[in-house]
Amino acid sequence: MSDKKVIFVAGGAGYIGSHMTRLLLEEGFKPIVFDNLSTGFREFVPKEARFVRGDLRRERDIENALERYRPSAVMHFAAALVVPESVSDPLKYYENNVAAAITLLRAMRRQKVKRIIFSSTAAVYGEPQRIPVREDNPACPVNPYGRSKLMIEAILKDTAYAYPEDFRYISLRYFNVAGAHPAGGIGQKGPQITHLIPNILRAAMGSKKLTVFGKDWPTPDGTCIRDYIHVVDLCQAHLLALKAFDRGVNNEIFNLGSSKGFSVKAMIRAVEQVTGKKVPHRYGPRRPGDPARLIASSKKAREILGWRPRYGLDEIIETAWQWENR
Ligand SMILES: NC(=O)c1ccc[n+]([C@@H]2O[C@H](COP(=O)([O-])OP(=O)(O)OC[C@H]3O[C@@H](n4cnc5c(N)ncnc54)[C@H](O)[C@@H]3O)[C@@H](O)[C@H]2O)c1
Repeated sequence: MSDKKVIFVAGGAGYIGSHMTRLLLEEGFKPIVFDNLSTGFREFVPKEARFVRGDLRRERDIENALERYRPSAVMHFAAALVVPESVSDPLKYYENNVAAAITLLRAMRRQKVKRIIFSSTAAVYGEPQRIPVREDNPACPVNPYGRSKLMIEAILKDTAYAYPEDFRYISLRYFNVAGAHPAGGIGQKGPQITHLIPNILRAAMGSKKLTVFGKDWPTPDGTCIRDYIHVVDLCQAHLLALKAFDRGVNNEIFNLGSSKGFSVKAMIRAVEQVTGKKVPHRYGPRRPGDPARLIASSKKAREILGWRPRYGLDEIIETAWQWENR
C-alpha cells in the first residue's frame, strides 16, 4: 500500500525541486528526494527529508526507492535544461529527459505508483501564434530541450490512455521561473545558468557584463518579452495539482506564469530600482530559437486548480538578490 503523505521528488536537490521539498514538509508531507546531483546540491535537501542518491536512467535505482518508500505520487523535476547545450548535444537531452522519463514510468508501473506531476516548459510552444499563450496553442518547439519535454508529454498521454485506472498525470508548463525562498538557503546556483534574472543580478554585482541578445525584436523597445513567476508560487501550483487529482482532475496540461510580460530593458530597470545598482550591459546578436514574446495565459490553472500567484516582480528580484548576496 502506498502512503498518501509520501511524495517522490525526482530532481529534488535542484533549484525548483528543493523549494518543492520545503513546501511539502511545511504542508505535512514526507518528501523522498531522488537526485543524482548532476546539477543539484546535497545541502539544498532539508535534513527532515529522505535523500536517495540515484540516477533516473537506472531503473534499479528508481525501483528500489519506490519499493522502499511506497509514495502515492511522483513529482518529476529531474532534467537537463540548458537550451543552447541541447542544440549542441541533443542526445544528452533525449537520453536524460526522454529515455529517463520512460525508465521512471516503467518503474512506477511496476511498483503501482499511479500519479505523476511533470515539469514541462513554455519552450514546447516555440514561437507562439497568439499572446497570451493558452494551452491549446500549437506546440512547435524550436530546440531539442523543448522537443524532449513535448515528447514526454506525448508519452504521458499515451500511457494514461493505455492504463486509465492505473495511471494519471498533470503536466505543468512553466514560464520563466525566478526568485528564491524568502527564508534563504536555496536558490538558482551553478555555472551554467542562462536565465535572465540571475545574470542581470550578477552584472549588478560587478561580476560580469550582461549581454542582451538582440535589440531589433518586434516589441515596443526592441528587446524580448518574458513572463516571470516566483518559484514559491510555482510550487504552490504543484500542491494544488496534487489535491486536484483527488477531485478527479486527470491528464491535464496547465500553463504557469504571471500573465504579465516584461522586456529585457524593463527587467534591467527593475533590477536597478530594487538593488540601487547599475547593470552594465551590451547588446549582442539575437539568439536563434528565441521567441520575441512569451506571456502565459494561466486562466486554466486559476480556474481549475484555484491557483493565485502571490509574488510580484519586485519580490522576485528582491528574493533572488538576497540569494545572490548570500
Ligand atoms: N528553471 C526554469 O526556469 C524552468 C522553466 C521551465 C521548466 N523547468 C523545468 O523544471 C525542472 C527543474 O528545473 P530546475 O531549474 O530546478 O533545474 P535544476 O538543474 O536546478 O534541477 C534539476 C535536478 O534534477 C537532477 N537530475 C538531472 N538529471 C537527473 C537524472 N538523470 N537522475 C537523477 N537526478 C537528475 C539534477 O541533479 C538537479 O538536482 C526541469 O525539469 C526543467 O526542465 C524549469
